[in-house]
Amino acid sequence: MKVVIPAAGLGRRFLPATKSMPKEMLPVVDRPVIHYVVEEAVAAGATNIVIITGRGKRAVEDYFDHNPDLGSIGEARELEELEALTRKVSIYYIRQRMPKGLANAIHCAKHFVGHEPFGVLLGDTINVCTPPLLEQLKTRFTELGGKYSVLSVESVPDSKVKDYGIVQGHEVAPGVLEVERMVEKPRLEDAPSRLGITGAYFLTPSIFRAIEETAPDATGETQLTTALNTLAHQEKVYAVTFQGRRYDIGDRAIWLRTNIEFAMRNPALREAVLAALREYGR
Ligand code: G1P
Repeated sequence: MKVVIPAAGLGRRFLPATKSMPKEMLPVVDRPVIHYVVEEAVAAGATNIVIITGRGKRAVEDYFDHNPDLGSIGEARELEELEALTRKVSIYYIRQRMPKGLANAIHCAKHFVGHEPFGVLLGDTINVCTPPLLEQLKTRFTELGGKYSVLSVESVPDSKVKDYGIVQGHEVAPGVLEVERMVEKPRLEDAPSRLGITGAYFLTPSIFRAIEETAPDATGETQLTTALNTLAHQEKVYAVTFQGRRYDIGDRAIWLRTNIEFAMRNPALREAVLAALREYGR
């Protein structure tokens, strides 16, 4: 399976930290978020990954590359897992020349993808799911006939509707909607439902033509949700609910919480975190 990981976004929600570092390199405990995303793609069966980067994102490429300066330390236990991960998959990079939206970033991978369906995971979002989320989407894709794109959705609270692509559809099987319409980040009063697109997709290559046929929004960005809406008028698109949890690391509060949660699962850190929480929580 080929997987596209868009990682070209500007990280505005996390300024100033992301002024000179990619948001995909924000650490969650001791790994950057993009590490978890690649790990998740590999666990779902990715053999080839393309990361869409852009200005100021070189640290992402350096992260998955060998570092000769670490020399013998390169054999350190801390790097073993990363080395093992990079041996399991081929990682390629394409630069998006200008920040022109998520659909435009994915379109950069058109020639890499070719004619087969492919996965998309956002470079700033961790999904902790069993089986891995992309595998769940791929299984659904096959169950639904193996011809139509599938995206994951979850219920979002009213206050968050403005931050998500929102889906309208009718249920065709438990947890599966055939999509009728999608709106990117609507006002609450315009939202057709409370089902938000979570940022994991298993798409057919016809998305590329749909992107080409989709006009940019007022800010000059082409939104993937709008392109998927174009696609939904040409062929079926399914939205599925999934088993598991999602962590949007580009959000400061969620980043902090995720660090605490993941550190609590680490026996070497658990006691220190608990002690801190006891102290500060008073
Ligand atoms: C993107 C998508 C949006 C989706 C969201 C999930 O928005 O455009 O449809 O709901 O990811 O995180 P972004 O978060 O990049 O603004």
